[in-house]
Amino acid sequence: MTTDPGTADRSLRSTDFGDRAHRRYWWHRTGGRSYAPPVYSDLTEAEWAVMEAWFEDSERVGSGGEMSVPMISVLQGFIMGSGIRSIVQLGHYKGYSTLMIGMMLRRMGVEKGLVSIDIDKGMTEGVQGWLARAGLEAQVRLIVSDSAAPGMPAAAEVILGRAPRCLIIDSSHQYAHTLRELDLWWDALAPGGLMFLHDCSDYARGWDSTGEGGVRRALEEWLPRHPETAALMLEGNPNADGPVAYADGCGLCMMQKPPAAPLA
Ligand SMILES: C[S@@+](CC[C@H](N)C(=O)[O-])C[C@H]1O[C@@H](n2cnc3c(N)ncnc32)[C@H](O)[C@@H]1O
Repeated sequence: MTTDPGTADRSLRSTDFGDRAHRRYWWHRTGGRSYAPPVYSDLTEAEWAVMEAWFEDSERVGSGGEMSVPMISVLQGFIMGSGIRSIVQLGHYKGYSTLMIGMMLRRMGVEKGLVSIDIDKGMTEGVQGWLARAGLEAQVRLIVSDSAAPGMPAAAEVILGRAPRCLIIDSSHQYAHTLRELDLWWDALAPGGLMFLHDCSDYARGWDSTGEGGVRRALEEWLPRHPETAALMLEGNPNADGPVAYADGCGLCMMQKPPAAPLA
């Protein structure tokens, strides 16, 4: 029998994050969650070293706009649990979800599996540096653009070699822009594909810089126009014994596009 020398350490990863003051560590501070989530304990030593350095570096410049453990765990469950090989993300910010998904794809043996689009050129250059450091350039391609620009689905499909089977929307959080993203990318999503939207909770309406009701309002108007869509809209609360079980107060919406033909 061989023993993985990293096993003991893996179970301790991030267990000290709850002691850190930055607001981004809310998951580790609340709910008695003093364990390493599988999204971290699954990583190799080298991958975890990159993520630790990423946390340190991005914290120095005061950021904390990435999705947190609940949403990346949901994504890992679907991507790795089902072997999803063509993914588009709208909004990569400093690269947390981009790195984490890239590492999932590498473990799955997939190249050119994630296209991530962000309007911020400087941010994208920084993420490209992290991808190089993590050795994920074969798995991930970044594009600088408005994520609702009409040419983006075709550009993503050329890179992926097929239509995306998973779409992750985590960009402007603005009502009107999210509506445009939904219309554009729902058409681009492969039949039977999955779409995830962060920040769909009632609480997250406030993230809309235009003050028009955010992702939640966009979904409230878009979903009734697509009654064929299977959708689940989760509210969240970080407390373990809070009013709902899902931990991310920003919420999560998941939708399945109908398959091209009914399944036999
Ligand atoms: C919440 S952050 C994304 C976090 C990222 N998914 C993560 O978990 O690490 C939102 C990002 O959306 C980008 N964004 C805002 N408006 C956009 C637009 N119109 N088109 C594309 N990206 C946009 C911002 O530049 C920012 O980097």
